[in-house]
Amino acid sequence: MKGLLLAVAGLTAAFLSSASAADKLDPSCSSCHALAKPTDTSLDRLLARKGPDLWYAGSKFNKDWLVSWLQDPKHIRPAGYPYFKNIKKGDKHDEPDPSKILAHPKLNKADAEAAADALMVLKAPDDLVPAGAFKGDMKGARMGALAFIKFRGCVGCHQGENGEGGLSGPELTDAGTRLQPDFIAAYISDPQRFDPHIWMPTANLKDLDIQRLTAFLAQLGQGGK
Ligand code: HEC
Ligand code: HEC
Repeated sequence: MKGLLLAVAGLTAAFLSSASAADKLDPSCSSCHALAKPTDTSLDRLLARKGPDLWYAGSKFNKDWLVSWLQDPKHIRPAGYPYFKNIKKGDKHDEPDPSKILAHPKLNKADAEAAADALMVLKAPDDLVPAGAFKGDMKGARMGALAFIKFRGCVGCHQGENGEGGLSGPELTDAGTRLQPDFIAAYISDPQRFDPHIWMPTANLKDLDIQRLTAFLAQLGQGGK
């Protein structure tokens, strides 16, 4: 009984700490972003939402990146969010319509730091982003580049090195400064565990491929090759 009470107290404390972290963010943030895991996981919600989910932000982003991006937000998803609402027919293929892509709210330094602190508290459950999902072997990066560009077709939706690639997924040109390697490995192994209807295919990659792709992405934007 005592154990149960302690467990309940622990859960309540965990809930309160993430609830109060979300409370520290400007209320406007939650008008576009889910700061807690949504109970509605329907396709309609995905289609209607105004910005990407942030309920696992603390396991996804590097804090330094958050602090600087929130002060000077640049587009990450080249066709805005969600991309299919902002695409127009081009001569050869679909093109983003810049007039439909909204600028992101900009924060001053103090607010950006406070927001980054609050976002870093929003951790994913351990089984969604397991610590050590990326084993840290960077030697696979070159094979990962080949997988990204040639064998696994990632480049069809994502811009990787040199900004070359498709428009329907977020740019990964600076994935290494933006994203935590364990998140990258966990996300590419099963994107629908994060977002049940997201249109990134689950490629049923072997762990070796996941490790190599993560090594490749983790050095993008880090000044290395
Ligand atoms: C009007 C809607 C709107 C509001 C308000 C808003 N955001 Fe965003 N946010 C977006 C959109 C859309 C994107 C995706 C931008 C892109 O990919 O180019 C985004 C992206 C982000 C990202 C990067 C997420 C990712 O997965 O790449 C962070 C972090 C973020 N917002 C934090 C905040 C914070 C903190 C606030 C409150 C101060 C806030 N946002 C307010 C719409 C909004
Ligand atoms: C059909 C298009 C498509 C393909 C192919 C694809 N992705 Fe994605 N990817 C997406 C979309 C859509 C998202 C989530 C977008 C969002 O949150 O706005 C995503 C998210 C990601 C993320 C998380 C980035 C972030 O900022 O949220 C990583 C890392 C990633 N993809 C890597 C890969 C890798 C590696 C491959 C190849 C094995 C791949 N993707 C293939 C569409 C694609």
